[in-house]
Parts: sequence; C-alpha cells; structure tokens
Amino acid sequence: MESDNIQEQVELIRQVFEYVQLFKGKTIVIKVDGSVMSHPFLPMLVKDLVLLHRQGIQILLVPGAKERIDEVLQRYNIPWQSIGGIRISTPEAIPFIKMAAFDVSNRLMTLLAENNASAIIGNWVRARSLGVLKGVDYQDSGTVEKIDVELVRKALQEGLIPIFPNIGWSSSGKPYNISSNELASILARNLKAEKLFYISRSAGVSAEHYRLPDAVPVSSEGVATHLSVDQARDFLSLNDEKTHDEMIDLIRLACKACTEGVARVHIVNGEIEGVVLKEIFSSRGCGTMIYTKEHENIRPMRLADIPEVLRIMSPFVEEEVLLPREEQELADKIDNFVVYEVDGIIHASGALIASKEEAGRGEIAAVAVDRTYTGFGIGKRILSYLVDKARRSGLKHLYVLTTQTADWFLQFGFTEGRVQDLPADKRRDYNRLRNSRVLLLDLKHFRIKL
Ligand SMILES: CC(C)(COP(=O)(O)OP(=O)(O)OC[C@H]1O[C@@H](n2cnc3c(N)ncnc32)[C@H](O)[C@@H]1OP(=O)(O)O)[C@@H](O)C(=O)NCCC(=O)NCCS
Repeated sequence: MESDNIQEQVELIRQVFEYVQLFKGKTIVIKVDGSVMSHPFLPMLVKDLVLLHRQGIQILLVPGAKERIDEVLQRYNIPWQSIGGIRISTPEAIPFIKMAAFDVSNRLMTLLAENNASAIIGNWVRARSLGVLKGVDYQDSGTVEKIDVELVRKALQEGLIPIFPNIGWSSSGKPYNISSNELASILARNLKAEKLFYISRSAGVSAEHYRLPDAVPVSSEGVATHLSVDQARDFLSLNDEKTHDEMIDLIRLACKACTEGVARVHIVNGEIEGVVLKEIFSSRGCGTMIYTKEHENIRPMRLADIPEVLRIMSPFVEEEVLLPREEQELADKIDNFVVYEVDGIIHASGALIASKEEAGRGEIAAVAVDRTYTGFGIGKRILSYLVDKARRSGLKHLYVLTTQTADWFLQFGFTEGRVQDLPADKRRDYNRLRNSRVLLLDLKHFRIKL
C-alpha cells in the first residue's frame, strides 16, 4: 500500500518535471477576481504563483477591484450606479476608484514580497473613455486602447512580476476605470501568452445554469470542463438571452483571446487549494477550459474568398515576397487553397499543390497572413494544416520556393535544397531572375509546436 503511494508520488513528480520543461519561458496572465482578493486562500495562491515564477514561467497579474471599490465608495458616501454590468465612474468617484484599484494591487505586491518575489505596478495601459453607449454616459469608465508591450516585456525579462491595476490613462494622463477582465484578455493577446487564467469564486460554466452545446464534457460536479473555441461561440449563441452575465462575458473574452493566439483560457475557482498548479501540472484540470483546436478556423477556400485572399497577398506581391496571382488562377486551383477565417473575416491563406510529375511530392505555396494578424501563430497553423493535408494525401516530401521567408520555414524542419532537387516541371518553370531559394521537407522531419 505504502509503495503504491510512493509510486504515485514519483509519477506525479515526473509529470511536474515534464510540464515545467514545457512551460519554461512561457507567459501566463492571471486575473484574480476581487472576491478572491479578500479570501483566506489568497496567500496560498500567491505562494503557488511565485513557485511557477521561480520555474521560469513569466507571470502577469491583474487583480479585480470591484468589491474593494464598492467598499471604499460606501465608506466615503460616494453614490454610484452600474448599468449593463458597467459602473458609471463619475469624476467625483474616480479618485476613490483609483485608490481601491491600487489598494488591491498593493495587497498582491505585499504578498509577493513576503515570498521574496519582486513585482512592479505600472502605468502601461493607455485607455480612452467608453463614451455614451445606448444613451448612457459612462463618464470616466474607459476601455483599453493599447498596452506598452515593450516596457512590460522588459519588466518580465528583468524577472519582475508586473501587476496591472484596473486603471488606464489617456494620452493626456486622465485616469479611467477599466474592466480588469477585458484588460487580462487584451494583455494575454498582446503578449502572446500561453495561458490566461480567470480565478474567481465560481467553479466554471455550470451545466445547470447555462445551455451547453452538444458533446461538451460535464464533470461530476456539473461543470463544463472543456469548450473548443467553436463550442464556446455556440455557447454564446445558445445563451444570448443572458445579458450582463459575468460568465458570458468571460467566455466572450476567452474566445477572443483564443482566436488571437492564446492557447488556453482557464476559468477556475480560487477557493480550491492549488488550483493553478493543478490546472498547469496535471492532465486533470478543474474548472472550465476554453482551448484552440489545432486547425480550428482553417477551411478550404471558396470562390467568394478569392478577392479577400488577393487583398491579403497584394502587399507581399508588391514587395516581391509572393508571386503575383490572378483571380482566374486561384479559381482554377481552388482545391489547393485553404483559408484561415475568424467571424467571417479571412486572415490568411495557403496552398498545397501535389506534383503532377513526381508522385509523393508537393509544393507549399502562397502562404500569406494579413499584416494586421501576423505574429499570432496563424502562419504556423496554416502550415501545419497543409502538412497534415499532404500526409493524408499520401505525400512524403514537400518543397517551397521563397525569396525572403526561408528562415521561417527552416525552423519547422525544412532544409536548403537546389533547383535540381525540384520536380522536372518546376525546374523547367523556375524563374532564374527571381532566383528563389529552394527548401525541402521530408514529412518525417516536420516539427512544430502550436
Ligand atoms: C511568414 C508568415 C507566413 C508568418 O505568419 P505569422 O502568422 O506571422 O507566423 P507565426 O505567428 O506562426 O510566426 C511568427 C514568427 O515568425 C517570424 N517571422 C515572420 N516572418 C519571417 C521571415 N520572413 N523570416 C523569419 N522569421 C519570420 C516572426 O518574427 C515571429 O517570430 P516570433 O514568434 O519569434 O516572434 C507571414 O509573415 C507572411 O504572410 N509573410 C509574407 C508571405 C510569405 O513570406 N509567405 C511564405 C512564402 S510561401
């Protein structure tokens, strides 16, 4: 019996080592809800976060301040009103809101100091007024305009834990009360975080309170455990009558984060001891996870997509990074093309063209990611999809002709080749003036981490 126990512990330690390797150097954004900020478990949670930080995981913290703001406004007899789940922040209330926001940030700072971790509270968030929405003037409540990502990265590189109060400043220094949930999602997207945590006192999406799409797994506690981004979108449609519901808001923000490069969003209960460690270091998580499927959002190109695909390609064609292509050419080769689409908008394209001359070989071509969306891992996903497609079609070797993107391909296992290595038809058509580099891939050596 005792040896079983030891064996289990050894297994657990092994699992932890593997996960530590996997997440070293990765970024995790953690929003701690205001209700958890005053919970007796908070010191334990912070201790766990410091442990993660010591393993080389970059941590960013966004404390929620709603409860503290309520408390402070009450104490100073400042009336307030919330409409549509948003507090109307009057100019009279804003100094107190600021005080409460920095109060909770300082609480985290103190707990981190108790654990010998260095933290920094900063004014890295530019905000603007929410303005008047449906006739309601939200006064000094704001929305995030942009984040000074470079400065935040510098702080992370220095080994600091950045803390973000829910205050953003306009370019003239006017403070706005912003949503910490929104701030956490935008931070995760901007920093290309691996994970985003929403730690609150709710266990996740309850199957009793919400309509769930088919095939969503539900735990014995009645909580939806996993939702792919597609399922999460279906969830939002199925529950669209629930307005001003925080869980709906979190799922909406989670979807946005996942479609912009965050691999996983976890909505977990901060009252469970070790909840963040469980979620990261064990295959059995708790709460609800929203995740990006490897090839979510990628589908075959349709005729109606062609103008949009040509638009995405055009700046690269001008820079001679891509070959010019006509609408008719794309229509003729439509079966070769795939697109990456989010909410009806095409963000990227790519093509796999099987060689007519040499069985088992094919070309990767026309990979293009809309400039607005580069750096979110979309290119990688398109490539991975095309390689999968090649495998399914029985191809064994791929090649690509490129003028300026060789380094990007080399990281995935492509190797330098010569024009002579191309199939005969491609050799014949090779444009000496363009002088593209030839890269080759044995599908056995394809490596990618999405
Ligand atoms: C190359 C391209 C497909 C990458 O798409 P993406 O969605 O931005 O790619 P990912 O997010 O998966 O990868 C981004 C990484 O690739 C790097 N990268 C982008 N272009 C690169 C290039 N030409 N050479 C080397 N690395 C490059 C980025 O710096 C970034 O690095 P980081 O993750 O260390 O920050 C895109 O930039 C593009 O459309 N380029 C123009 C068209 C092109 O060259 N197509 C290939 C010829 S078929």
